[in-house]
Amino acid sequence: MPRRLFVTTALPYANGRPHIGHIMEYIQADIWVRFQRLRGHAVHFVCAEDAHGAPIMIAAEKAGKTPQQFIAEMRAARQPYLDGFHIGFDHWHSTESPENVELSQSIYLALKRAGLIYAKRIEQFYDPQKGMFLPDRYIKGECPRCGAKDQYGDNCEVCGATYAPTELKNPYSALTGARPELRSSEHFFFRLSDPRCVEFLRQWTAETNRHGEPRLQPEVYAKVQEWIGAGGKGLADWDISRDAPYFGIPIPDAPGKFFYVWLDAPIGYLAALKAYFDSGKARANGEPSSFDEFIAADDVEQVHFIGKDIVYFHTLFWPAMLKFSGRKVPDNVYVHGFITVSGEKMSKSRGTGIDPLRYIELGMNAEWLRYYIAAKLNARVEDIDFNPDDFLLRVNSDLVGKYVNIASRAANFLVRYFDGKLAPTADPSGAPSGSAAVARAAAEDIAAHYEAREYGKALREVMRVADFANEHFDRHKPWELAKDPASRDLLHAVCSDVMHCFRLLTIYLAPVLPVTAERVARELFGMPRAFCWSDLAERQERIAPYKHLLKRVEEKQLDALFGADAAPATAAAAAATPAAAESKTIAIDDFAKVDLRVARIVAAEEVAGSDKLLKLTLDVGALGTRTVFAGIRAHYTPPQLVGRLTVMVANLAPRKMKFGVSEGMVLAASADDEKSQPGVFLLAPDAGAQPGMRLR
Ligand code: MSP
Ligand code: ZN
Repeated sequence: MPRRLFVTTALPYANGRPHIGHIMEYIQADIWVRFQRLRGHAVHFVCAEDAHGAPIMIAAEKAGKTPQQFIAEMRAARQPYLDGFHIGFDHWHSTESPENVELSQSIYLALKRAGLIYAKRIEQFYDPQKGMFLPDRYIKGECPRCGAKDQYGDNCEVCGATYAPTELKNPYSALTGARPELRSSEHFFFRLSDPRCVEFLRQWTAETNRHGEPRLQPEVYAKVQEWIGAGGKGLADWDISRDAPYFGIPIPDAPGKFFYVWLDAPIGYLAALKAYFDSGKARANGEPSSFDEFIAADDVEQVHFIGKDIVYFHTLFWPAMLKFSGRKVPDNVYVHGFITVSGEKMSKSRGTGIDPLRYIELGMNAEWLRYYIAAKLNARVEDIDFNPDDFLLRVNSDLVGKYVNIASRAANFLVRYFDGKLAPTADPSGAPSGSAAVARAAAEDIAAHYEAREYGKALREVMRVADFANEHFDRHKPWELAKDPASRDLLHAVCSDVMHCFRLLTIYLAPVLPVTAERVARELFGMPRAFCWSDLAERQERIAPYKHLLKRVEEKQLDALFGADAAPATAAAAAATPAAAESKTIAIDDFAKVDLRVARIVAAEEVAGSDKLLKLTLDVGALGTRTVFAGIRAHYTPPQLVGRLTVMVANLAPRKMKFGVSEGMVLAASADDEKSQPGVFLLAPDAGAQPGMRLR
């Protein structure tokens, strides 16, 4: 039975450009959606801008624009990202839309009728100069615990304390600098603590979906139970209103009051779906019902993909809002972790080392990133890391070196000696030993992994089969078979077998590599359409000459992606801050934090494009090998270094540099004033020291 699915990703705030974290979420959801479609299910996949809220209002004002103009520009900038990474949303909408106004107001009124909305006066900081109540993040002051200046209204970045904005010492408005006043006003609250809500949420969060799978991942479920607390005591009522001026949706019958952005944001999922239905696109995609019928239909599964920071909204507020406004509740909320880049957390202000648009503009293939991210993803709420070296390795050696390699090698023999015709059976003996048989046998496991969002496992299976096919091919030495006319049948059988295997692998990879899979279907196998899962059972009779499918990643592309942010290359350079002659004393514990090790330089090479750096490969005994970029090119040549021992800092956080990732630092001595006392002198241990030994 074909499933009917309504799938969303989180609605990104409209005041920022898409970053690699958003792209990762889209890729995760898009792979799942494409997998469902490949299997013949109907999926309606929508998203929208999350347009409302104080930060957007303030950002627009700073830019000298109305919020509407501001979000329209952001929106226009979005499409290149989505197209660039092959994210196949059926519709992209906005929470600043008539559909969302209507749905938000009607859901609110239904909640009110259900007795779950009440009004209460509360006191909040008000900026008298700006004439508005200040969200916490626009109030700054001195930390009540450590006294650090210029800390935000809710937590201290210096000592980590969390507090209420009213606890700040000498508070000021981050917008005007004015001293905020406490003022009271009436707010509306959603009664999440109501026993009906508690009871419902306990049940909903614990239930399995219609396929017998848990609605929530185990770690998400555990967290949510903690929030609900014993007897539901953990659930606080939710302040859903904001006072004018506010960029948001007006609350019915409450002049000057607007919905807090997080009330109308998830309703934006429904608004986007409604706009998609009303535009006729759903019908064009084969869905005959109306929005109202579809959203209420029992068989429709509603699935949200989100990141770990917005779980509370999606597993408590959102299902409760839907339930008590008389609507169907979500089937699943799938939570992913965050993506880091070379181990560094993304910072809103600094961004990350990867700008997705730059990635596209540099001509880097989106499918490389889709593959790499998929290979790292699993069904748990775990952070994943983008590491440039690892990226290069996985794409080049697995995707290109294993998968593409099968086709490029076999196709040439098939076209040259057999006019592109494929032999009818996989193996002349008929034994199911061929690689196509191995590929076919993996189908259900791979499907189960995709279904469960265990993409890493799915791709490992694919690569296991690809390894098998390559080995099978090599074992028969087709280049030798080709020399002997008596071996033609065997050559034909071997090449046809691995080519059929390649076709199956392409079907398995289609959710991750939609463009390549479609090219393989159309160009190599001459099909009039893209692959679907049921094509696994078919065999193709012939192939067209092989055309190049996927390039390898080049190191220089990664260098360009990460920009020219050179990092200090030796401890000496890092310490060479002005007037570093006198050093403060430290405790022995401080010294012990530095993991110093003896290392053998096993390779050294000049770095193209840098006249300062040498790339060193260090053997650090039990710690394995490390790559370090050292700013010693002016002082040493590679042959002087290879084979010798030195000392490295082994526990420095890896650092991405223009030329790659540096995984530590070698120690060298130099004078404070290098001009009058030139020279950089690498440290070396006495004879007998072995790589990996600790310095203490
Ligand atoms: N506007 C809200 C969501 C409203 S949904 C009704 C929001 N927007 S956001 O732009 O900050 O984030 C959008 C999505 O990106 C969220 O799911 C968030 O978890 C995800 N990510 C943000 N940074 C991320 C990473 N570094 N890595 C992976 N996903 C991350 O929250
Ligand atoms: Zn503090």
